[in-house]
Amino acid sequence: MIETYHLSKVYSRGVYALRDVTLSIDKGEFLFLTGASGAGKSTLLRLLLCAEQPTEGTLKVGGRVLSDLTPAEVQSHRRSVGFVFQDFRLVPRFTVFQNVAFVMRVLGVDLATQQRKTFQVWKGVGLQHRMNAYPEDLSGGEQQRVAVARALVNDPQIVLADEPTGNLDPDLSLEIMNLFREANSRGTTVLVATHDLWMIRRVGRRVVGLEHGRVVEVS
Ligand SMILES: Nc1ncnc2c1ncn2[C@@H]1O[C@H](COP(=O)(O)OP(=O)(O)O)[C@@H](O)[C@H]1O
Ligand SMILES: [Mg+2]
Repeated sequence: MIETYHLSKVYSRGVYALRDVTLSIDKGEFLFLTGASGAGKSTLLRLLLCAEQPTEGTLKVGGRVLSDLTPAEVQSHRRSVGFVFQDFRLVPRFTVFQNVAFVMRVLGVDLATQQRKTFQVWKGVGLQHRMNAYPEDLSGGEQQRVAVARALVNDPQIVLADEPTGNLDPDLSLEIMNLFREANSRGTTVLVATHDLWMIRRVGRRVVGLEHGRVVEVS
């Protein structure tokens, strides 16, 4: 599903954010990407979203080399990916329900389907009573659940999550992980970047460790 081959990313001033990373992630797999701050986790996720271009090597998703995609194909690739940002990035002037439904509106999905799918994913994140709240009215954990609902609402083939439990307590972190596990059991490939070793142990899936942009351990 996701293959990197001698993948490197150099930002300006010669910093190797990723260095010679060769990695294969199967369809339907749930994988943790770990490593200290600055190890290159977010860079790999950004490359997968075509938000950055590799400096060397190749990156394939579903057999296609991402750097060969046309702009229209990049758009369609992004539609098949659900992304959870570290800082949520909810739209403040929308209710949290609208924040989730919006994804489908952008894609031109009809209103009835928008509502049906949003309600469905909404039940899963346990926020039925907060549908009409604005992001600022919710706690960090609740906002993160909205961000996860938004990433999952479109039945993505791949979910990429960047430190999705960054500031959450252990119970909430496991709840978020359960949402990803459920999506994974329905066939979604899940890639979670985190430095939370406690949570990685609790969830017990394959782990790839990065150090200064290199793969240092795979378990
Ligand atoms: N836009 C950027 N410009 C220059 N350097 C960057 C940029 N983004 C990340 N870096 C550098 O690349 C390295 C990897 O960063 P990052 O992928 O954010 O790591 P992580 O997510 O594991 O903390 C770090 O040295 C970081 O400072
Ligand atoms: Mg990061």
